[in-house]
Amino acid sequence: MRITVTGANGLVGSRLCRWLVVQGHTVTAVARGERRTVGDFDYLSCDLADPEGVARAMSTGRPEVVVHTASMTEVDACERNPDAAWAANTLAAAHVARHARAGGAHLVHVSTDYVFDGHDGPYDEEARPNPSGVYARTKWLGEEAVRLLAGSWAIARTAVVYGYPPSQRPNFGSWLLGTLREGKTARLFVDQYVSPSLALNVAEQLAELAERRLPGIWNVAGAEVVNRMEFGEALADVFGLDRRLLTPSKLADAGMASPRPPRSGLRVDKALGALRARPLGLSASLEQFRAEAEGRV
Ligand SMILES: NC(=O)c1ccc[n+]([C@@H]2O[C@H](COP(=O)([O-])OP(=O)(O)OC[C@H]3O[C@@H](n4cnc5c(N)ncnc54)[C@H](OP(=O)(O)O)[C@@H]3O)[C@@H](O)[C@H]2O)c1
Repeated sequence: MRITVTGANGLVGSRLCRWLVVQGHTVTAVARGERRTVGDFDYLSCDLADPEGVARAMSTGRPEVVVHTASMTEVDACERNPDAAWAANTLAAAHVARHARAGGAHLVHVSTDYVFDGHDGPYDEEARPNPSGVYARTKWLGEEAVRLLAGSWAIARTAVVYGYPPSQRPNFGSWLLGTLREGKTARLFVDQYVSPSLALNVAEQLAELAERRLPGIWNVAGAEVVNRMEFGEALADVFGLDRRLLTPSKLADAGMASPRPPRSGLRVDKALGALRARPLGLSASLEQFRAEAEGRV
């Protein structure tokens, strides 16, 4: 199958491109900057907020399926620069959706649990979004653009993705591992509940959604919901690191530019029931992360 993956320099996109090649697909990888991803696939640099860039990406890859992972993912940076967040998270999604429909391609659009307000998570696929903050609102509007403009689509929501090596910037898991390995303390929220999701496991689920052209909304995340402190303790245990370096803290004390959903997380019953690429539980996911960090995979 010819599959175009946007966001190919990123945490999820880089793994997805490599996994799809292993599965025998012809992959065209797209991101904005210079190529920073390795693998046996073509790479195209373009700004997806520019419709001409999207047109070029589509005519190059002639995809049967597009997986759109590209996004502006730094939540506080989005809050400070809503124009850039709108362009990357909403406009780009609209252009990709329109061009996928015009080319007869199925679209798998990657979104986030931040579309929910985080008052009563974890959320299933039927839950009603109520985004707050610029990142969340622009991602939600990106979903709306896909529903409106794409012909055949899936929306795949994920959450707190981690993996090793990190992409350009550290992710929650790689930052925490680096901090503990240096013997430094890490402040972790006890009042933010999330679904930690290993990037490779997310990529495998996205690949299956793409291959089978499964329609509708899918939660594509780790199988367990924990608070950030609990994640830290589990990570410390798996790596044999010192739990005492973890300091409990509260969301309200952090003074972040953008609001965070406190009780979030995603229910993955639908994926567990329907996908061969099963969402991993926390300990299996952390063992795989350890294998990645120790260069065993
Ligand atoms: N990471 C998480 O914890 C998390 C949680 C929930 C949902 N998600 C969602 O999962 C998806 C993947 O996230 P990620 O963490 O893998 O992202 P990431 O590592 O931050 O990578 C983002 C990618 O998007 C590309 N990109 C950004 N703006 C672009 C533009 N205007 N034109 C073309 N490419 C552009 C970047 O290209 P360059 O690097 O070349 O600029 C990069 O390849 C996103 O949709 C995100 O919203 C992520």
